[in-house]
Amino acid sequence: MIHIPKSEYSRRRKALMAQMEPNSIAILPAAAVAIRNRDVEHVYRQDSDFQYLSGFPEPQAVLVLIPGRVHGEYILFCRERNAERELWDGLRAGQEGAIRDFGADDAFPITDIDDILPGLIEGRDRVYSAMGSNPEFDRHLMEWINVIRSKANLGAQPPNEFVALDHLLHDMRLYKSAAEVKVMREAARISARAHVRAMQACRAGLHEFSLEAELDYEFRKGGAKMPAYGSIVAAGRNSCILHYQQNDALLKDGDLVLIDAGCEIDCYASDITRTFPVSGKYSAEQKAIYELVLASQEAAFAEIAPNKNWNQAHEATVRVITAGLVKLGLLQGDVDELIASEAYKAFYMHRAGHWLGMDVHDVGEYKVGGEWRVLEVGMALTVEPGIYIAPDNQNVAKKWRGIGVRIEDDVVVTKTGCEILTGGVPKTVAEIEALMAAARTQAA
Ligand code: GLY
Ligand code: MN
Ligand code: MN
Repeated sequence: MIHIPKSEYSRRRKALMAQMEPNSIAILPAAAVAIRNRDVEHVYRQDSDFQYLSGFPEPQAVLVLIPGRVHGEYILFCRERNAERELWDGLRAGQEGAIRDFGADDAFPITDIDDILPGLIEGRDRVYSAMGSNPEFDRHLMEWINVIRSKANLGAQPPNEFVALDHLLHDMRLYKSAAEVKVMREAARISARAHVRAMQACRAGLHEFSLEAELDYEFRKGGAKMPAYGSIVAAGRNSCILHYQQNDALLKDGDLVLIDAGCEIDCYASDITRTFPVSGKYSAEQKAIYELVLASQEAAFAEIAPNKNWNQAHEATVRVITAGLVKLGLLQGDVDELIASEAYKAFYMHRAGHWLGMDVHDVGEYKVGGEWRVLEVGMALTVEPGIYIAPDNQNVAKKWRGIGVRIEDDVVVTKTGCEILTGGVPKTVAEIEALMAAARTQAA
């Protein structure tokens, strides 16, 4: 399995500590276990920030970084080994494992945190934490601070500054290292196979969930623990619902099916959308819309390179789509005016993409100092224009209504432009029709 090497976690901690102010401490909790219903838990997914700095996969853990601390800068509080609990729920690293396998300088049982952590905070000027994102943890943190405050008359020195960790950490996460790109390529490769499999399996009479099952099969077979987000399999007019997740409708000849799905490998997401005909052949209207979306995506790729700003790719998609909609008679008027009045938003109501990484909608600022962010090598993003013609849009001829098309790929900015990670899924009308025809011939 391709994964982030241990040395990289250590490098990340050092890089973060190098940016922290002198005499400070950073404290991050692991994700909590989420209960699905009585006695049943959701599949555990580590908090992305915690994972980024530790690679430690367990719940009930707290990571502490104290730059310059002589007795160890990286301290992990985690669950103790427990033969009975491990028999029921699986192995735990314990404190020994935290040091041996996860590079902690020191480790303590999580049950001892109330006794130990105030002593580690005491005397530091600043506390870095993800304030506001975990109210329960924020409350604990204030309790630890209050323990120190209550001893002020004994000379204890509580910290005076509380700093949001997100700014430093999320900027680091925005720039993907070679190891991260490698993992993202693997996630993209598995997801590409899943989309190909769904196209090959598609037949009228199956259901949206039948294709979701094909996706899940390839995800799991490739070693992914889970999809990076709820898979969208949307046939017919459902393709006009942007975050459709019901996935239970019948697949009918004549309809398109839009699949937006990607797996997660070692906590790195992929995010692919393809839109193809249930019958294996696009109708004239479907093809016209599809090729317009594809042309807008190509125009966007050309705007992704160092020194171009975040918004340029989006602007390129807006221009191509607006001009194309005018040509097809779906919008009337002057292209520049239609762009200025945002008339295209009746058909294209989302942006051309988002940062991609450990979170599918990844962290990182889109604007800096009020200006769109300038792209740099290692930034990863999606490129996902779409056109959705509402089934009840009375302003367009009936033949267009209910067509929804999105095409989405994942890219990483390189020195000269961008690398498309998700090129393994066919994308032109001819390629998709050929793939689907070949699958049907083989099956016949
Ligand atoms: N799958 C969510 C998105 O494309 O942004
Ligand atoms: Mn996306
Ligand atoms: Mn998507």
